[in-house]
Amino acid sequence: MSLYAKMPEHKPEHNEEALSRGMDSPYLPFPGTVERSIRVSEKERFFVVAPSNETLLDYGPGQFFMVGLPGYGEAPISITSGPGEKKIELCIRAVGNLTNAFHRLRKGDRIWIRGPFGRGFDLSALEGRDIVFVAGGIGIVPMRSLLKAVLDKPGRFGRLTLIYGAKTPEEMLFAEEMDGWRRRGLDIQATVDKPDGPWKGHTGLVTALIPKIEMAHMNTVGVIIGPPVMYRFVILSLNARGLGAEDIFVSLERRMKCGVGKCGHCQINSVYVCQCGPVFRLSELKGMPEAF
Ligand SMILES: Cc1cc2nc3c(=O)[nH]c(=O)nc-3n(C[C@H](O)[C@H](O)[C@H](O)COP(=O)(O)OP(=O)(O)OC[C@H]3O[C@@H](n4cnc5c(N)ncnc54)[C@H](O)[C@@H]3O)c2cc1C
Ligand code: FES
Repeated sequence: MSLYAKMPEHKPEHNEEALSRGMDSPYLPFPGTVERSIRVSEKERFFVVAPSNETLLDYGPGQFFMVGLPGYGEAPISITSGPGEKKIELCIRAVGNLTNAFHRLRKGDRIWIRGPFGRGFDLSALEGRDIVFVAGGIGIVPMRSLLKAVLDKPGRFGRLTLIYGAKTPEEMLFAEEMDGWRRRGLDIQATVDKPDGPWKGHTGLVTALIPKIEMAHMNTVGVIIGPPVMYRFVILSLNARGLGAEDIFVSLERRMKCGVGKCGHCQINSVYVCQCGPVFRLSELKGMPEAF
């Protein structure tokens, strides 16, 4: 069977799912109203958005929206709220024209959203397994949606461990939520590149923690979301703990324009990351070194 046959069918001409959900076109954005805009670090702001259309709430963990502002364009942004929540939560790092404009938004301002798009995490593939979540930097943003989905289903998964690396303690996102996640059964190992102030956690790369965690390797899956440089080394560390390509899931970031498999901006060989991904089982990316 070809690699492509395992992935969702690429249908550039029609987006039947979007049409059946009542959207005239997958390019048509719906307005959303910013209810909260909170500075969470020097570079990131967290947004709570009230959608104008309920179809926007029909998302799963790992999916993304194309989010735009008139005059500034659009960009793919991961959904960080959990499935079933009534508000959309986003966390945006200011890196360019659009994202800096987002950082100037305040309560009551309007944004434009289309989606949800992409293939997210299939929770049934994780059920019954121990899960090691490895997040680096802003990778914790889509990971949070998956963590919420998993923690909302107690008893359905095995031992849960999050290894989260940030540059500094100040850049560690969602730190105030972590005690709550711990109480719900998540073991959290946090590490920073540069410790400062009262930081008492680990210092160093996430890969240094992987050999130390408790893991029933015959029953464990790994989930990796982070900066491109992280993937190769985390995969090697998980391989060393006995996890193979079938046991590892990754979420890829590529430049995107349409989000619906039409423009080719996100293409790696025959794979359209916006439709076939962004979440892939590592075995699906076999023979595609360009993926990382
Ligand atoms: C699936 C997915 C999910 C994402 N989720 C999030 C999220 O949750 N939060 C978040 O903050 N970001 C997220 N991103 C990244 C975000 O979409 C980009 O950072 C987006 O480009 C920002 O738009 P901008 O106009 O502000 O910056 P841009 O003008 O696009 O610039 C962004 C950065 O890319 C560089 N750049 C610009 N053009 C190019 C080019 N042609 N080639 C290489 N580099 C270039 C710029 O120098 C700058 O450093 C996600 C991306 C993907 C694909
Ligand atoms: S973003 Fe256009 S094909 Fe993927």
